[in-house]
Amino acid sequence: MIVTIDGPAGSGKSTAARALARRLGFEFLDTGAMFRAVALAAQKQGIDLTDHQGLQRVMEAMHLEMSSGRILLNGEDVSEQIRTPEISAGSSVVAASPVVRPRLAELQRRLAEGRSIVCEGRDQGTAVFPQAECKFFLFADPEERLRRRARELQAKGRAVDLDALRQEMTARDQRDAERELAPMKPADDAILLDSTGLTLDQVVDRMEQEVRQRRTNAPR
Ligand code: DC
Repeated sequence: MIVTIDGPAGSGKSTAARALARRLGFEFLDTGAMFRAVALAAQKQGIDLTDHQGLQRVMEAMHLEMSSGRILLNGEDVSEQIRTPEISAGSSVVAASPVVRPRLAELQRRLAEGRSIVCEGRDQGTAVFPQAECKFFLFADPEERLRRRARELQAKGRAVDLDALRQEMTARDQRDAERELAPMKPADDAILLDSTGLTLDQVVDRMEQEVRQRRTNAPR
């Protein structure tokens, strides 16, 4: 069974997806981490993030592994390195590239094959797994998303400039929603969930209930 959770930065997708997967005994796939790893690989090789030929070379030479919530780029654990503001912005730039998206989508489908899995990102319910049994689009008020992201960064000991972070998140949301290829938007059959003012548990309760109901009603 495939469950997809799409939505903008700071909507609580990752935390909710991880918690939901744990409750259901499903696996979990953070697809944003894959775009972040491509941006990091390009940055390390000095490739301009809008240079498609350069990105093509990066993709060809790159080996990505996802295991136990960690991401390995050519064997190196880059789970922390991909969480900087520069890589956040860069991941959204490479995400618009026609040489990056199809390859990552293919890898995502391969990783999900034969598994019960919760996949989170921007295009999981629309483009990568249109056949998913249960789709959510999680969103929240922009100022609440900003506060959550700021708290997350502060918890990691990073200094936060709220205005700069607001600008980065707004620009990223706009780029993700307006790009031509698999833009961020709810699938027609997605359940829209507004997490503003809800606790993580409340969000995950609602999701779990929905998934269990669909599983019970699914034809065998
Ligand atoms: O979820 P995240 O913040 O880690 O994602 C980083 C960027 O990757 C996001 O701004 C857009 C891109 N992305 C995407 O285009 N499609 C996905 N399925 C996941 C992420």
